[in-house]
Amino acid sequence: MEILKQNNDHISGENISKELGVSRTAIWKYINALREEGYEIESITRRGYKLLSTPDILTYEEIKEYLNTEFIGRKIYYFDTLESTNNYAKEIAIEEAEGTTIVAEEQTKGKGRLGRTWLSPKGKGIYFSVILKPKFSPMEVAKVTLLGAAAVNRALDDLGIKSSIKWPNDIVIGGRKVCGILTEMSSELSMINYVVMGIGINANFDQADIPLELQDKATSLKLKNGKNINRRELLAAILNHLEDLYLKFNIDKDLSEAIKVCRDKSAVIGKDIKIIYGKEVRRAKAINIDDQGQLIVQMEDGSREKIISGEISIRNVDDSYI
Ligand code: BTN
Repeated sequence: MEILKQNNDHISGENISKELGVSRTAIWKYINALREEGYEIESITRRGYKLLSTPDILTYEEIKEYLNTEFIGRKIYYFDTLESTNNYAKEIAIEEAEGTTIVAEEQTKGKGRLGRTWLSPKGKGIYFSVILKPKFSPMEVAKVTLLGAAAVNRALDDLGIKSSIKWPNDIVIGGRKVCGILTEMSSELSMINYVVMGIGINANFDQADIPLELQDKATSLKLKNGKNINRRELLAAILNHLEDLYLKFNIDKDLSEAIKVCRDKSAVIGKDIKIIYGKEVRRAKAINIDDQGQLIVQMEDGSREKIISGEISIRNVDDSYI
């Protein structure tokens, strides 16, 4: 692949085979496999092969040029279609190394929080799960979600897209959701076996990809940005920021940077909210996020409480809630 990418002109099968030390038949097979993946490769007798275009896919091969991590995203399991990247990650998490990432172009049973489904149309979003094996206690796992939210927010910033964080696990633009995070964990009482952090991004959805009943709640980066975004660059940028923030927390016990992002970019602080505990709903005002990532809220009777994690909805100016 590198050879094809580096050559602007045709390169002969013979030259490739010499350079790589493999047979010409092996090269031919490899070229065909690449074509299957969507690479457009011209082949002209006596001149050889030339790469005409690369597909918009989220393989390691395609994101690695943007990746500067040590371990997150360095091993990627890539699928054209999968039920759920979180479910797959959980199946392999025990034997895989930390940082292993599962990416799918489409999910047939994408999972959202609270048993909801996560819409995952093919090639239009970014659906991935990262396997982590943190050294901290299971009690602290909610913080991993905040690291993810801060990483997505920063990565969008890198691409020139301004977004806000709806504590603790959504990224919103203009009050509508563009990204959700589902963190799952397997643990003993005092030790985490693994954490799977699943992130879903409505990247290049068109209006028609969003069901009518969600149109006032969800949007996509493409719809907000006016044009397609580069999914490969965004995925790599998220993994880069995630590793950076994760190492600070896991090694140095320093959550401050992630908390600062969650505060500075908060869609919640200062807003009237509803806190949803199963069927019970309580109204409150979001005051701040503390240094541990908990949401400080003021209840209707004036008392203050801290919420570790949970589901909230924010009141809009028109009195509706998102
Ligand atoms: C939510 O906001 O409810 C969380 C959505 C999480 C969706 C992602 S997409 C990749 C990963 N695999 C899943 O099945 N879910 C998460």
